[in-house]
Amino acid sequence: MIPYGHHVLSPFTDTVNAFYPKIDKFDTLTLPLISHTLINMKKIALTGIKPTGILHIGNYFGAIKPALELASDQSSAEYDARYFIADYHALNTMKDPKELAPTIRQVAAGWLAAGLDPEKVIFYRQSAIPETFELTTILMAFTSKGLMNRAHAYKAAVQENTERQDDPDAGVNMGLFTYPVLMAADILLFDAHYVPVGKDQVQHVEMAQDIAQAVNFNYKAELLRIPQASIQEQVAVVPGLDGRKMSKSYGNVIPLFAPEKELRKLIMRIVTNSQGVEEPKDPETSQIFLLYKLFAAAEEQAALAARYREGGMGWGEAKEELFRVVNRELSPLRARYDELMADPAGLDAILERGAEKARPIAAATVARLRKAAGID
Ligand code: ADP
Ligand code: TRP
Repeated sequence: MIPYGHHVLSPFTDTVNAFYPKIDKFDTLTLPLISHTLINMKKIALTGIKPTGILHIGNYFGAIKPALELASDQSSAEYDARYFIADYHALNTMKDPKELAPTIRQVAAGWLAAGLDPEKVIFYRQSAIPETFELTTILMAFTSKGLMNRAHAYKAAVQENTERQDDPDAGVNMGLFTYPVLMAADILLFDAHYVPVGKDQVQHVEMAQDIAQAVNFNYKAELLRIPQASIQEQVAVVPGLDGRKMSKSYGNVIPLFAPEKELRKLIMRIVTNSQGVEEPKDPETSQIFLLYKLFAAAEEQAALAARYREGGMGWGEAKEELFRVVNRELSPLRARYDELMADPAGLDAILERGAEKARPIAAATVARLRKAAGID
């Protein structure tokens, strides 16, 4: 167990006293959290990425890009980012090792290729942090079954089964049922202030808050930081090839690292209406233009929008223009991705170094709780 305690804190005692003048005697259990806040005034942003499939353009604009902006140079004075691959969460649905193993690497390489700097962001695999699973066991004792009954993924499964007149719990494994507890452990282990997630994950962050409060209340100490979900309201929903939201489950995706030829073929498959070449077209209602806007510079957007409105440009040409900018912007990412994927040992080493940085933080949290619980 990695030690924590007074030697970490003693140089800061004066600062602590100045900062919290009303507290003259610190409960040793709360020291690590307070010391962290004082030594490191930055806020901690943490998020997990479930490796359940190949990354697509929707994932890039909806999740990867905003998370990397949070960890960018401009924001790094404010935030410490901790991003991880939630591989044990993926196990709930992915039982084929031949599928899970490459997906974990592809998703990790995808984030690195998209610009994640492992020197600045602590980037690791959930499975490399055994403390996660110890904390999960502790949290289980503070999580009411009723809370899990209300989790939306479980409720949806029960509803589907009921509609089919099947057993309500058919096909539900305990990994799915207790999914929010493992997620709470991921978050609480690293003292996260903010958890950038999509709207569908807000309920899980709220459950992490409830569980953390139950622990703190029981031990009458602020052992766990209460995390806040941070949702990016302005993130656009990226349309897929058929105009619906781009999603693996709809089979309408443009993979982020598709080779040039495949990329072109997919873009040519985008569904359009029957407007002829000469007809003026409304760029704002065209999903081809919506995708174009994600990749093109402002001047390019204005120029192409004018051509849409003038008429004389068919959907084929609009798709060619889209392909040109998408390929231009994604080519460097694809090259980095291919390089990373060609060196699996190098990729694993990056994740391993991330885990080495993460484990002492995780160990401090578990040590704090073991002591509070009377286990140590
Ligand atoms: P999928 O729908 O393909 O299964 P996931 O549910 O694994 O994708 O999503 C992973 C992340 O990417 C989530 O944060 C989600 O909000 C984001 N995301 C997925 N598809 C889109 C999209 N079409 N537009 C914007 N964001 C998306
Ligand atoms: N449940 C999240 C998803 O499906 C992934 C995840 C696992 C996560 N652990 C997390 C997200 C911790 C934020 C924090 O997308």
